[in-house]
Amino acid sequence: MASLSPTPSTSSSSQALVIVAVVVSVVSVSCSQVVAADGHPDYADALGKAILFFQGQRSGQLPPDQAVTWRSNSGLSDGSAANVDLTGGYYDGGDNVKFGFPMAFTTTMLSWSVLEHGGKMKARVHDARAAVRWGADYLLKAATQTPGTLYVGVGDPDADHRCWERPEDMDTPRAVYAVSASAPGSDAAGEAAAALAAASMVFKAADPTYAGRLLAAARDVMELAVRHQGKYSDSIGGDIGAYYQSYSGYKDELLWGSAWLLWATKNTSYLGYLCSLGDSDGVDMFSWDNKLAGARVLLARRALVNGDTRLEPFRQQAEDFFCRILPGSPSSTTQYTAGGLMHKSGYANLQYVTSASFLLTTYAKYMAVSRHTFSCQGLPVTAKTLRALAKKQVDYILGVNPQGMSYMVNFGARWPQRIHHRASSLPSVASHPAHIGCQEGFQSFFYASGANPNVHTGAVVGGPDENDAFPDDRADYARSEPTTYTAAPLVGCLAYLAGTYRS
Ligand SMILES: *[C@@H]1O[C@H](CO)[C@@H](O)[C@H](O)[C@H]1NC(C)=O
Repeated sequence: MASLSPTPSTSSSSQALVIVAVVVSVVSVSCSQVVAADGHPDYADALGKAILFFQGQRSGQLPPDQAVTWRSNSGLSDGSAANVDLTGGYYDGGDNVKFGFPMAFTTTMLSWSVLEHGGKMKARVHDARAAVRWGADYLLKAATQTPGTLYVGVGDPDADHRCWERPEDMDTPRAVYAVSASAPGSDAAGEAAAALAAASMVFKAADPTYAGRLLAAARDVMELAVRHQGKYSDSIGGDIGAYYQSYSGYKDELLWGSAWLLWATKNTSYLGYLCSLGDSDGVDMFSWDNKLAGARVLLARRALVNGDTRLEPFRQQAEDFFCRILPGSPSSTTQYTAGGLMHKSGYANLQYVTSASFLLTTYAKYMAVSRHTFSCQGLPVTAKTLRALAKKQVDYILGVNPQGMSYMVNFGARWPQRIHHRASSLPSVASHPAHIGCQEGFQSFFYASGANPNVHTGAVVGGPDENDAFPDDRADYARSEPTTYTAAPLVGCLAYLAGTYRS
């Protein structure tokens, strides 16, 4: 595959040094371009865009108020391979597969964003709820249409990835994948339970009937996860589990699902269960794969905000996570780039940055409410410490970085033009009604060097590498693909920052 990159490779250390040197001279210029007069990016604007992004990821029949008009209906017979209706939901990133496991995590994080920080979203809270509902509607169908079965994916991922096609044109097999008592998947079911329980709380006041259905489904799916234990990737056949295999196993999803059900139902039998899981592994990443850090922060909420001392061990584990990511902490296991970005992985690094930033802002809120502080082996940590790190990471994403580049599409002065995203990089159905075939998409559009025709506003890409470099190359999926699970935690984070740093 030919490189489309206009930027030289940074693989040699001498080139990396040159880039760092160039970077220093650019900082002040780029900052003046992206930072508002009051000293920070426009978080409220970024929040609106982050929420809008989810409309561009929609599958199914689009509603009349769809604002992202370069998308059209797609996947209208999804589920027919199993004689069920699995239309709707979200594509995870730049492809056209519906992966239930990360879609559920996305829905959980969007819900948590609304639950903790919805009060700071102002009018945008309605759009944020609509984004939750698009995921929750799909998960409800996936969980309730066939009793005892949870559908965990639609679309053969290998066939899909061999094509560069618009979702509206896709003609690859829409295979359906499911977990059940005979094909256990506690990871996928535990995450679906978390998502349904969290979404039920989002709609508790606004639509109690819907909230009740979500919560009932959450209970049933959690029971399936607990009673029939296993990894979905070992059970379901096909390759869909290979794309989003839960490398961390399923215990973290059992903890996470139980923690959400404890909050949503107040039924303390979940408390007994999650305390029995007793996992004390230290972690320094939070993602669609490993939810331990998120579960611990969620349970620490109950310890700090509700004063439930039974949850103290989880509070300590949550704080251990923060001590592993804070710069200057003696127990830090986290690298930062020269430009100040948390660097966890060469693949889609920003997903780890947004999820960690969500936990930082959320725990800062709990600490402020309970007037709590802690220390990392002598390093004092306050709510302000956590908030400052989250702000620095989000500011970097929004353009306060050595490249002067915002990693959110259509935010700030410079942003990625060639994101790895089929629907964004191919002309819309409205502008080009004729079918674009599987291979034609590669030849005419994927390999083209120009900017994507459809601006996917709010999309946050995988982000720069460990040298703060970003080639803006469509083929470079590790850095150029946006995903729903990168954007979902950012929604809550941006709401918090918008409410905290008012102009
Ligand atoms: C609490 O949950 C347990 C386990 O799911 C269930 O058996 C019990 O009936 C629930 N209690 C209430 C009050 O709903």
